[in-house]
Amino acid sequence: MKQPERRKDLPWLRQVSSFFVSRVILTANNFRVFDHLAAPGKTALVLSRTLSADVRATELLLNSLVAIGLLKKKKGVYQNAAAASRYLVSGKPEYQGDIIRHYSTLWDNWSELDTVMKTGKPCRRAHDHGAFILGMHNLALLKVAKVLAALDLRGVTKVLDLGGGPGTYAMALARKGIQVTIMDFPDTLKIARKLILRSGLSNRVRFLPGDFTRDDMGKGYDLIFISQIFHAYDDAACIAMLRKSHDALEPGGKVVVQEFLLDETGTAPSWSALFAINMLVNTPGGRTYTPREMIGWIKKAGFREAKRTLLDETVLIAATKK
Ligand SMILES: C[S@@+](CC[C@H](N)C(=O)[O-])C[C@H]1O[C@@H](n2cnc3c(N)ncnc32)[C@H](O)[C@@H]1O
Repeated sequence: MKQPERRKDLPWLRQVSSFFVSRVILTANNFRVFDHLAAPGKTALVLSRTLSADVRATELLLNSLVAIGLLKKKKGVYQNAAAASRYLVSGKPEYQGDIIRHYSTLWDNWSELDTVMKTGKPCRRAHDHGAFILGMHNLALLKVAKVLAALDLRGVTKVLDLGGGPGTYAMALARKGIQVTIMDFPDTLKIARKLILRSGLSNRVRFLPGDFTRDDMGKGYDLIFISQIFHAYDDAACIAMLRKSHDALEPGGKVVVQEFLLDETGTAPSWSALFAINMLVNTPGGRTYTPREMIGWIKKAGFREAKRTLLDETVLIAATKK
């Protein structure tokens, strides 16, 4: 059907209702719709019975998923489209369903933004730690090869992955024969241990349960990897983290920071500017930072030669201990 012509100066108005799209995908993922719609597919009636859901609600949800390109519909039978088959069916190598479950809890917290505007304080009323940590694994799996290729690992034998989460980067480093320690909270390490056991790399990965803002990080590392950590903290905490990392490194050792890229205006790329709101809502002092801000802290903590590498949506900053 031919679409009616739209006014050209109103794309932002369409964005205001883009939460329709988010909510439909979040709910479909929560109901594991895509796990059930592999070929040859199902009718709305059959799927509604499988999901113990209302049949009218199921049909309308499925139609909207067809409209946004995640499903196909033929003679009343719904089936995953290519993107859903690749990314939304559990067990697939590039599965993104855990991060989408995490986004579903973020939905609750973002709904408090009006209140946060007044208080300036986070309002984290929902959190599913399993979805958060496995979601980090979903996202890191999409980029780990590029990140590893950008790291200078010459002479590196002992790495600390600070706030290493599910251990995606730790496993990739261990595959290169490097001994890696993951420092993270005990409930995170429970999840990482399972993934690492399954990968057969347990002999090269150690676990250091603790809070890196308070507890000892150990010593003698050639490289400390701090990936996607700074955005959850304020600048004083990031500088303290870097100073502690400096002490834990061997002379000539390196710190490598990975963070979302934010330009000097603080307004682009749009994902990073919007991610700052995610941190406003969920953390007491976090936001996204510009490379210049982070390099300033790195130098303050005693490192030299800060070198940046741009990846798709993140920046890597590597610096050496004097
Ligand atoms: C956004 S995730 C990043 C995970 C991983 N580094 C990556 O890039 O995929 C942040 C991780 O840091 C951990 N973390 C945050 N603050 C921490 C602290 N004070 N002590 C230990 N771990 C911490 C969280 O538990 C989580 O696993």
